Amino acid sequence: MKIKTDIYLGDTNEQIKLLPENSVDLIVTSPPYADQRKTTYGGIHHAKYVEWFLPISEQLLRVLKPKGTFILNIKEKVVNGERSTYVMELILEMRKQGWLWTEEFIWHKKNCYPGKWPNRFRDAWERLLQFNKNRKFNMYQEEVMVPMGQWAKSRLKNLSETDKIRDISKVGSGFGKNISNWIDRDKAYPTNVLHLATECNNKNHSAAFPEGLPEWFIKLFTKEKDTVLDPFMGSGTTLIVANRMMRHSIGIDIVPEYCEMVKKQIKPVELYLFESKAEYEKTEYDRCITVC
Ligand SMILES: C[S@@+](CC[C@H](N)C(=O)[O-])C[C@H]1O[C@@H](n2cnc3c(N)ncnc32)[C@H](O)[C@@H]1O
Repeated sequence: MKIKTDIYLGDTNEQIKLLPENSVDLIVTSPPYADQRKTTYGGIHHAKYVEWFLPISEQLLRVLKPKGTFILNIKEKVVNGERSTYVMELILEMRKQGWLWTEEFIWHKKNCYPGKWPNRFRDAWERLLQFNKNRKFNMYQEEVMVPMGQWAKSRLKNLSETDKIRDISKVGSGFGKNISNWIDRDKAYPTNVLHLATECNNKNHSAAFPEGLPEWFIKLFTKEKDTVLDPFMGSGTTLIVANRMMRHSIGIDIVPEYCEMVKKQIKPVELYLFESKAEYEKTEYDRCITVC
C-alpha cells in the first residue's frame, strides 16, 4: 500500500470542504494567531477570531473520524494590557458545535526569548487544546511512556500506608492510584506538559513546530496507516513527521511557496526511512505525493 501525502493550496475554509467526512484520525495544527504575522501570511483581528474559526472547526468536525482527535495549538495575545479572551470564547463555541473539550496540554517552550515587560514575564508556554467527537477515542498511551527516573527510586522507597491503598482521587476525577504499583517499573505515563524547544533552525517559516510536537501526538493518537491532517500546514512539520511515521497525511496552506517547500521536503524523508534498499523492497509501503 502507499503512504500518501496530499497537499492542498488555498484557503482552508474552502479546501477543507473537498475532504470526505469521517476520513481523518488526527488533526494537529497551529492556525495563524490573532493579529500576528500580518506581513507574512495575514492575521485575523482578535475580535473576529472566533467568527473566522468556527466554519473551519465545523468542517474539521465533519472530516474527523468518530474516534479521532483534534489538537489545536493556540495562545491568546495581550490586548490593551490584558489577555484577550478569544481562546476561551472559541472553546465555548466549539462545544456548542458538538466538540468535547477533552484535555489541555501545555507546550513549555524551553528556549523562549529573554525580555522584560513592565507587567508580565516572558511567555514560555502555549496551549495545546484537545477536542474529540466522543468520550471514547483512540489513545495509545504506552507509545509515549517515559523513563521513571532516579527520583522515583527514593520517592517510592518510603511510601506511607495511604500511598499503598487504592486512593480515590481527591480532585473528583474518579481515577484512583496505588503508588506502590509503580515500584520496580522502568516507565511511567507522562504528564500533560510537553517540554520542547521552539524550532530555531527551521525551514524558511517563522512559526514552525518543533518536530517533537506533532510526533508526540501522532504516537499517542494514531497507528501506522492512519491519516493525519494539518489544515494550516506552514512548513509541513506535521506532514513530514507523519510521513516518516508511516501515516498518511494531508496539508492545506494558502501560501504557494510553503506548498512547494513541503513538496520538496517530503522527498528526502523517503531516503532515510529504510535501513537498506533490501529492507525498502521487501516492505509493502511506498510513497506518493499529490499536490492538488
Ligand atoms: C502558525 S503557521 C503553521 C506552522 C506549521 N505548524 C509549521 O510547523 O510550519 C500558520 C500557517 O497557516 C497558513 N494560513 C494562514 N491563513 C490561512 C488560510 N486561511 N488558509 C490556509 N492556510 C492559512 C499560513 O500561511 C501559515 O503557514
